[in-house]
Amino acid sequence: MSSLGEVILPREGPKFIFFGGKGGVGKSSLAAATAVWLAEHGYKTLLASTDTQKSQNDIFQREIGGEETKIPEVENLWIINVDPKESIRQHQLEVLRRIEELKDLTGERISEAEIRFLKEYWERNPVLPCETASYNVFIHYMNTDRYDAIVFDTAPGYHNLEMVNYPWRYVYNLEMAIAAKREIVDLTGKVAELKLLEKLRDESYAAIKKLASEQTVYFLVTQPEMLPVYEVRRIQDSLKPYGIRVKGVFINSVLPKEYCKEGFFLKRRLLQEKYINLVKKEFGDLPIVEVPLLETEVVGLENVRRLSTLIYGR
Ligand SMILES: Nc1ncnc2c1ncn2[C@@H]1O[C@H](COP(=O)(O)OP(=O)(O)O)[C@@H](O)[C@H]1O
Ligand SMILES: [Mg+2]
Repeated sequence: MSSLGEVILPREGPKFIFFGGKGGVGKSSLAAATAVWLAEHGYKTLLASTDTQKSQNDIFQREIGGEETKIPEVENLWIINVDPKESIRQHQLEVLRRIEELKDLTGERISEAEIRFLKEYWERNPVLPCETASYNVFIHYMNTDRYDAIVFDTAPGYHNLEMVNYPWRYVYNLEMAIAAKREIVDLTGKVAELKLLEKLRDESYAAIKKLASEQTVYFLVTQPEMLPVYEVRRIQDSLKPYGIRVKGVFINSVLPKEYCKEGFFLKRRLLQEKYINLVKKEFGDLPIVEVPLLETEVVGLENVRRLSTLIYGR
């Protein structure tokens, strides 16, 4: 087993694994390989994609929707494509269910008419913007203990960062909203909304704790070129204030030396070596794994398995 294999093993509580880096560097491929490796080592694993591109459908060559889907060929592996629209609907349904519960209080504080009004209001209002909805699902998964490991596949660029720091940004708004709603709760009967906000707040605090703990593993992914290397450096700096610790760096798509003896490929290999050395210099205190450029794409289970063995060993 490689040193990175040790890093991702769930020991005390579930592990949450993230990949950050520029678009196209191999985050989705590495997330798939990581999830398959963990599942095949006996850990109940969820691969959760919040990228609307749904790369995992292409990688696993099947249609996966907004529900946790078991992959029959790999024991212990489930995949979900978190769909913002579906998440909004789920959020709405949860509020409506809670409003329904309020009926028991009818006669005391809340009239039938008020309940009807509340239900109509929540049916009409999507409440959450799309982006927020998938972040809420992310917070939900940070709080589930149904899996030993959850591997997140995020969209490139700032989506990733905005997602992992969302709980920090979100609790403030939640605290404000809760304080405001508490004042008027007796007047409006918006108990359901208040309860839900309190639940989200508590889950956000729990997520913040886990993100800054040993349970969270954040990997940087780059290719041996200038722009993606600069990007991972920026990402590492942005993670620091949140206490999210980077546990390793993947340098993906490295040209195998034996094919780069002269001409074009030698030039290209030398260029790559320059950036491999830069990564080693900048991230010297972290495990760094060079992943070779394969002669195939990372499509289909066999290729995903091959990539996982290359990275984590047997
Ligand atoms: N080591 C590799 N060898 C060959 N092809 C790779 C390798 N890593 C990734 N790819 C291919 O590169 C493309 C981009 O990878 P992907 O994982 O989708 O990147 P990201 O999620 O960062 O945008 C895909 O077509 C994938 O199959
Ligand atoms: Mg991707």
